[in-house]
Amino acid sequence: MILVCGGAGYIGSHTVFELIDQGEKVVIVDNLQTGHKDAIHEKAKFYEGDIRNRDFLDKVFSENEIEVVVHFAANSIVGESMENPIKYYDNNVYGTQVLLETMKKHNVKKIVFSSTAATYGEPERIPILETDKTEPTNAYGETKLAMEKMFKWADFAYKIKYISLRYFNVAGAHKSGEIGENHSPETHLIPLVLQVPLGKRKYISIFGDDYDTHDGTCVRDYIHVTDVADAHILAVKKLRNGSDSSIYNLGNGEGFTVKEIIEAAKKVTGLDIKSSIEKRRKGDPAKLVASSQKAMTELGWNPKYTSIESIIDSAWKWHKNKPDGFEN
Ligand code: UFG
Repeated sequence: MILVCGGAGYIGSHTVFELIDQGEKVVIVDNLQTGHKDAIHEKAKFYEGDIRNRDFLDKVFSENEIEVVVHFAANSIVGESMENPIKYYDNNVYGTQVLLETMKKHNVKKIVFSSTAATYGEPERIPILETDKTEPTNAYGETKLAMEKMFKWADFAYKIKYISLRYFNVAGAHKSGEIGENHSPETHLIPLVLQVPLGKRKYISIFGDDYDTHDGTCVRDYIHVTDVADAHILAVKKLRNGSDSSIYNLGNGEGFTVKEIIEAAKKVTGLDIKSSIEKRRKGDPAKLVASSQKAMTELGWNPKYTSIESIIDSAWKWHKNKPDGFEN
């Protein structure tokens, strides 16, 4: 049995769909604070509750024979983490502490962890390697780095093996169009851009056009959510094969500016998308592009959605199917 903490969230739900497709048995824990009931796969066993609740988590581990944990349960909005960092320490860091204590108690020795490019902060070079310096510029990234460090020492002391996956900009949706990205409030570029052709927003704000990039807008490395989900499955397999703990970047290795994303979205939708240049958003690095060579070599990861159009097209399919997102 694979326990997916946060399996009703955006990346968690897509990972559950891929795991079940591959014949795995899945149990989900989610407090539904940011996750959605409608995103839960019908074949997964579901426990509604919070990983910070020791008794609840203990019950889940007692009632199920858990072999591996895949851990997504966390808050992930950079801006919110700067307004309310304690919320992030509580849910992300303390939640992971209770999870690790429970894993230790029940002798579960494998965990795949949802980490982020935000652990790096302002990069010292592009593309970013896993060995580059980690100096987060926001509280969200700081808590994810703290969680990674907790795994490192839990491995040292209790031999709990972890694989941490540092995602860059995850986008797109499941090929069925049945599940996709649905945050409230939405802060991510691609879903916000697509709200314009959906008629839900008049224009997209471009946060700064005076960065040191080829068109002045920020460069990001966009990666499809199903490719990210696949990396988790490869990580589970690697841990099953007795692998040591490790950290991997997940990105396409190619950067796109905000303006290029808007142009690509116009092409995909065939509709006009108005934009307005606004001032910079606090804490945005100019460029974030991953080297995912290590994941490709060691995990055998091979992302399939390598064009930005294919990523945006799958997001478009989802948003057209559910313009108001999930009902529950
Ligand atoms: N942007 C706009 N207008 C918008 C929204 C975003 O111009 O309305 C810009 C941002 O300024 C940024 C780019 O689009 O330059 C991408 O922004 P997102 O909010 O979509 O993504 P981020 O790069 O800020 O965030 C991602 C992940 C975070 C992670 C972070 C690491 O979503 O979880 O990378 O820096 F922490």
